[in-house]
Amino acid sequence: MPAIATTVPGKIILVGEHAVVYGRPAIAVPVMQVQARAAITANPRAKPGTIRIQSANIGLETILDELSEEHPIRKTITSVADALHVDHIPACTIRLISTIPVASGLGSGAAIAVALIRSLSAFLGHPFSDDQVNALAFEIEKIHHLTPSGLDNTVITYAKPVYFIKDQPLETFQVGKPFLIAIGDTRISSPTALAVAEVHRSWKADKAFYERVFDSIGGIVIKARQAIESGDIELLGLLMNENHEWLRRINVSSPDLDHLVSVARMAGALGAKLSGGGRGGNMIALVTPENAERVAQALRTEGVMRTILTKIDSTRPLFE
Ligand code: PMV
Repeated sequence: MPAIATTVPGKIILVGEHAVVYGRPAIAVPVMQVQARAAITANPRAKPGTIRIQSANIGLETILDELSEEHPIRKTITSVADALHVDHIPACTIRLISTIPVASGLGSGAAIAVALIRSLSAFLGHPFSDDQVNALAFEIEKIHHLTPSGLDNTVITYAKPVYFIKDQPLETFQVGKPFLIAIGDTRISSPTALAVAEVHRSWKADKAFYERVFDSIGGIVIKARQAIESGDIELLGLLMNENHEWLRRINVSSPDLDHLVSVARMAGALGAKLSGGGRGGNMIALVTPENAERVAQALRTEGVMRTILTKIDSTRPLFE
């Protein structure tokens, strides 16, 4: 059996986080500069059924049976085998390698799941379609995030900008004019599940207010899609700023995020906001080729360890 390897990108949410959990649209885009890869090699001489798993990033070097039944990697492997009605996976080594920082809003959990599902289904002789990969990855996301919208696994599976509405068929769209996003990590790890649970508690306490906020964010997302399609980058920047204000009002920003957002704007970014669950994790800034380095430098001066500059366009990348 030949070795199989799959590489997938990370992701950021451009607009619409949190409101997307309540049925409003959101836009997310792949980030090619960070990637997860799952490589599977058959071990015909190993004891039958021995599935070795190596993941240097999370310090994992084990065999499948030693992982708890609830471990996302074990769950991913068993769900692929179950979906294919395979009782015995041939002895093999699964290597998981990722350059996507963990718990920072770049989709590391979903990316590992998508890469592993793709590689394993191919290794077992039945490569899944994107739709099948996405559906299975969504089930794995539920282990990490309890009530995920499905946005992360969708944008990572299709590796294209997506206009996403929960429980609705995939919608990708064209980018009228490619644009640049600088990503800055606060280095404050903030579990998405916690932020989502707190928003849910507040929503229950004041549904009228939260529904109005989510409607406003939904409106911003619709306009942002039009701005991206027509190449109106200035308008997209203003909409990102507006979105950040609403996220502040529902308490998912933080002093560090607010500070970095304003630093990016002062350095010339056309717009900036938190991205993802909030409270920590990443912020993003819409930049131009002329001011990208100045914005990145300003963020680094304020303590951001690493900035990633990513270009958003409509083409699906070809990973080897
Ligand atoms: O923290 P991230 O990048 O995984 O994004 C979470 C986005 C939320 O809208 C807050 C939750 C969700 O499931 O969509």
